[in-house]
Amino acid sequence: MITTQGLTKVYRSSGREVTALDGVDLHVREGEVYGVIGQSGAGKSSLIRCVNLLERPTSGTVTVAGQDLTALAGRGTRAGKQLREARSRIGMVFQHFNLLSSRTVQDNIELPLEILGKSGKERSAKALELLDLVGLADKAKAYPAQLSGGQKQRVGIARALAGDPKVLLSDEATSALDPETTRSILQLLRDLNRQLGLTVLLITHEMDVVKTVCDSAALMERGQIVESGTVSELLATPGSELAAALFPVGGDASGADRTVIDVTFHGESATQPVISQLSRTYNVDISILGAAMDTVAGKQVGRMRIELPGRYEDNVVPIGFLREQGLQVERVQGDPRHDEPSVLLKEGVTK
Ligand SMILES: Nc1ncnc2c1ncn2[C@@H]1O[C@H](COP(=O)(O)OP(=O)(O)O)[C@@H](O)[C@H]1O
Ligand SMILES: [Mg+2]
Repeated sequence: MITTQGLTKVYRSSGREVTALDGVDLHVREGEVYGVIGQSGAGKSSLIRCVNLLERPTSGTVTVAGQDLTALAGRGTRAGKQLREARSRIGMVFQHFNLLSSRTVQDNIELPLEILGKSGKERSAKALELLDLVGLADKAKAYPAQLSGGQKQRVGIARALAGDPKVLLSDEATSALDPETTRSILQLLRDLNRQLGLTVLLITHEMDVVKTVCDSAALMERGQIVESGTVSELLATPGSELAAALFPVGGDASGADRTVIDVTFHGESATQPVISQLSRTYNVDISILGAAMDTVAGKQVGRMRIELPGRYEDNVVPIGFLREQGLQVERVQGDPRHDEPSVLLKEGVTK
């Protein structure tokens, strides 16, 4: 649904060059919620602004719903018109809502429809329908200043949906909101994704956002995507930084002559009582040192760090049993306390 190839963005200002995007290949499938996470300055906003051509890429291509937007940008009036039309089918939600304070809620939502030249009757019907959809049917005549942050963002989302977009882009839409409001906005995005078949590309610096709503995720560092995939694929990738940050497990061996392993659950295996089966079948005492489980896209996924008595060599058979159950098992070598924590965990993902 959204594809970028070799997307590069270099900003030039007062003789200085900043490479914000350095060859980004992004692939967002139709109907999924895709999260891009990364630290401040990683290039996330540049990426999203290049996807809807708010920012002109230095090189590379952007294709949305089969249409090459980069081919349309800035080439004559006909292409310009096509680009405007294509853009109207891409909704955009902003961190600071960007509502006009002098306009009522309804008039804010009607604004993009005015620009598209829709009649007053059409605009008003659409705005009221969207207000209902985002749960603000009674706020049509209110002004932005009379709304809470969460309500303002609902208006921002309704406005983004005015042109019946197939794609919704969201740049830190919940970063200015408290945790409870964040949850309700994420739930709304999830509902819209399901009800309208909307493809959502969201940018965030919060791991929780990815965990709550995303089907797939990518990690950005210094203008590049360094990891990407569905949450299950990431979990199944040994050494994945995103998986470690999504499901952090700690815990040290309780003594020498112990085997510490990380067991990753996803898909079918997550519902099987494998740990108790293992314990019964091999008559071993298993200690759980740490665990991080969650429901992602309706499936139980997560990681558990467990300890088995004896050396690794003595545990080849029980570990083989776990693998046969479809679980991914990684040995935690040496003293786990000396493990290098992932960059995301070490520095925290902050703005
Ligand atoms: N309009 C601009 N002019 C010059 N440099 C910019 C501009 N926008 C962003 N940058 C720079 O590009 C890099 C990536 O920024 P940005 O895409 O905003 O990252 P993020 O959203 O991940 O914080 C940063 O070094 C930032 O300073
Ligand atoms: Mg940003």
